[in-house]
Amino acid sequence: MVSGKNILIGIAGGIAAYKTAHLVREFIKAGANVKCIQTPASKEFITPLTLSTLSKNEVFSEFTSDEENPRWNDHVSLGLWADLFIIAPATANTLGKMCQGICDNLLMATYLSAKCPVYFAPAMDLDMYQHPSTKENLNKLKEFGNIIIPAESGELASGLVGEGRMAEPENIYKFICKDLASKLPLKNIKVLVTAGPTYESIDPVRFIGNRSSGKMGCELALNLANRGAEVMLVLGPSAQNPTHNNIIITRVESAEDMYQESVKRYDDCDIVIAAAAVADYTPANKFSEKLKKEQGTPQIEFQETKDILGFMGKTKKSQFLVGFALETNDEIDNAKSKLKRKNLDLIVLNSLNDKGAGFQYDTNKITILTKHNKMFSFELKSKQEVAQDIVNTILSEIDA
Ligand code: CTP
Repeated sequence: MVSGKNILIGIAGGIAAYKTAHLVREFIKAGANVKCIQTPASKEFITPLTLSTLSKNEVFSEFTSDEENPRWNDHVSLGLWADLFIIAPATANTLGKMCQGICDNLLMATYLSAKCPVYFAPAMDLDMYQHPSTKENLNKLKEFGNIIIPAESGELASGLVGEGRMAEPENIYKFICKDLASKLPLKNIKVLVTAGPTYESIDPVRFIGNRSSGKMGCELALNLANRGAEVMLVLGPSAQNPTHNNIIITRVESAEDMYQESVKRYDDCDIVIAAAAVADYTPANKFSEKLKKEQGTPQIEFQETKDILGFMGKTKKSQFLVGFALETNDEIDNAKSKLKRKNLDLIVLNSLNDKGAGFQYDTNKITILTKHNKMFSFELKSKQEVAQDIVNTILSEIDA
């Protein structure tokens, strides 16, 4: 949820500041980039050296740094750098000043400049936390669009026991991840993705397959999962193994297995992306023992496999159906007729004539055609970027 994100942590002057070191570690462990801003008072409770060592970044506190060669610590660019801003601990004093827009230190100025979501983890003694002015300040900060992480109950630095201690760092971390997940655009959307090749058995040892690596379908599954979708990935024999909490992988081998596993999930999903390179034919009779040379050259009879996407097109209710077409000639016409024949909403065309596109490559070059006769052409890109383009186009077509 936070991997690769820029996280700014503001630390105000309260005893709970010592716990912020653990919070920094939680985010660093999760793969986030972390920068810290301290109020001058907070340095009494935790040193910049500790925070800088853990965050692997310079810690900011004053409007300028380096006395001999003064440099402006630009609160505007710090605020804009952040994808998330967390004030932990948020003391009564800092809450009050932020409510009023007072700007007498770098943390306050950065808060006023930030455009990203801001989380506050209040920390103070129980009577301060219950005081009407604190409550009013917290409510006002909420009205401004900020998010408050409620203080927890327990023993306080004063020796009193009650509500007011800063939420434990792991609870702050979990709160933020849960909050971010609840706001993802594809939350509650279920997507079925088929990916990879299929293997059609001849005998226990041999099969007929194709060169699909499954990369494109797996990148699509990851992109959708990162946007909050629940992804059911039905994956043929492929070395790919996308790991994400929102992806459930079902491994299959043959076209028939892929058909069975996909159809089972069809009624339950909102979007289907059929990225698999499904065999169109399978041996009519599979030999139960390995074929031996002395039996002579085998004569293999083929029969058609079931068309998974074709079946889905025929029985479509409200699902948005996306197919792929890999063509070598008359690409656009062939893709258009496939779109119609399979009753799709959108088709992604890759041409084997484009260098770097199609099976085995890490790149792809696609054209998207929609049932409303729109056509979008894209440059050669990494399959990760192509997945982004495909999902963006699907979402804009669904919204259209
Ligand atoms: N597809 C499928 N089940 C099959 C075959 C294909 O779901 N048994 C899906 C693929 O995943 C792809 C789309 O259908 O999204 C197009 O596949 P393709 O094999 O090119 O389509 P065909 O109708 O078989 O056309 P062609 O004559 O080109 O083989």
